[in-house]
Amino acid sequence: MTVDRDNASLPPKAGVMGWPVEHSLSPHIHRYWLGRYGIAGDYLLIPVPPEDFVETARGLARDGFVGANVTVPHKLAAFEAADEVSAVARRIGAVNTLYYRDGRLIGTNTDGTGFLENLRQGAPGWDPGAGPAVVLGAGGAARAVAVALLEAGVPELRLLNRTRARAEALADALGGPITVADWAARSETLAGAALLVNTTSLGMVGQGPLELALEALPRRALVNDIVYRPLETDLLARARARGNPVVDGLGMLLHQARPGFELWFGRAPEVTEELRQLVLEAAA
Ligand code: ATR
Repeated sequence: MTVDRDNASLPPKAGVMGWPVEHSLSPHIHRYWLGRYGIAGDYLLIPVPPEDFVETARGLARDGFVGANVTVPHKLAAFEAADEVSAVARRIGAVNTLYYRDGRLIGTNTDGTGFLENLRQGAPGWDPGAGPAVVLGAGGAARAVAVALLEAGVPELRLLNRTRARAEALADALGGPITVADWAARSETLAGAALLVNTTSLGMVGQGPLELALEALPRRALVNDIVYRPLETDLLARARARGNPVVDGLGMLLHQARPGFELWFGRAPEVTEELRQLVLEAAA
């Protein structure tokens, strides 16, 4: 067996590299799973300024780590630090998880699968092929969501962003059945949709409201907000009130953490109600 890190006799540890990183909820998630499965290991905050990121990431094994999550502002720099980057991370254009395989540092991205797993757990009957998906926003989160939805086989993806050029750039980069519409026409764009996802920061505590009339949205359409502060955003509350199935955004955060935990600690963890409550309390 290849020894992937120094100090391999010590309990495995992983962590999250960011700057700043104090507010990350990832330690709450991974430490909960370590405790639940009785695994001797740890998950730490790794504050790293941009100028030190590549060197620190390359030295993870030397410092006794089995891998790490990567968060703002390092998700692009991680391409440089990794020996190899997965196809999905390249397509999303960001690395959020680093792990070792045969002594090589591999970068991948679990946001898209986290998004899909959250929908699958929260709305078990949801079928990506059922109809068009409307995605609001064109930032990093939208990119992961769009990649996942295209991969899952949505027949049409309607992409809308306040800055339309960003949506067009994303559509060009990804290819596939994406149509870009005007932010001003967002309410009309909901006609005939089977899924609506808000990936903008609108509706989050401290941000402006998401102004979006839902009349044109079919009542069977699934509505998901990746904002989870508050857990039930105004969008989700209004969608629920008119009878749409809804899935909140906390699950994406929890599900994106699962592949990393399994890669580092060798056990596929579950997203439980207890974990949701614990992370909600930590986020409050
Ligand atoms: P993330 O990586 O979390 O997606 P981001 O890249 O900063 O973060 O993207 C934030 C998204 O919220 C963008 O789609 C942004 O729209 P712009 O590209 O036009 O900036 C969207 N957003 C933020 N504030 C907004 C507002 N007041 N009205 C409409 N969209 C907004």
